[in-house]
Amino acid sequence: MPLENEFCVGLDLLADRIARAERKAHRAKLANLAFVQAEAALFLSALAVLPRPPRLRRVFVLFSDPWPKRRHWKHRVLQSSLLDTLAPLATADAELHFRTDHPDYFAYAQEVVSTHALWRLATPTEAPWPFEHVSVFEERALAGAPQSFTARRV
Ligand SMILES: C[S@@+](CC[C@H](N)C(=O)[O-])C[C@H]1O[C@@H](n2cnc3c(N)ncnc32)[C@H](O)[C@@H]1O
Repeated sequence: MPLENEFCVGLDLLADRIARAERKAHRAKLANLAFVQAEAALFLSALAVLPRPPRLRRVFVLFSDPWPKRRHWKHRVLQSSLLDTLAPLATADAELHFRTDHPDYFAYAQEVVSTHALWRLATPTEAPWPFEHVSVFEERALAGAPQSFTARRV
């Protein structure tokens, strides 16, 4: 498994999602991961002010809520401000993997990355999707047409 030598942290706002993930990790005897109930941008901001911030090699934003109405776009996880916070935490070869089944959110996220000074969209051959694991949400999304991209530090 590609991520077996990496330490992974899973985030979600909801306690029951975290509890379910912890149960699954325990059943699978996975010791290289932890789950934190936290808002993603706040969590990254907290990491950034640690005396020795961790360096992030990969970040996955998977099926985060699309918030279809324009007045709610500010709640989308993938924002320019998130990329600002992430950039100093990211290793030079860091990859940000984004997937959604919402076409408008996909276009919005691509635009956010491609207009950001510190990130760029990677081509699929340059940065293939690292692994596949179908989550409950991905299973639902497969009925639609999930789209993915990978972004890299400039
Ligand atoms: C559609 S579910 C997808 C869950 C999971 N990523 C997957 O692919 O199976 C979206 C999740 O994003 C979480 N979420 C939404 N906004 C968030 C934020 N700002 N920070 C952390 N989690 C967030 C929600 O609580 C919800 O569980």
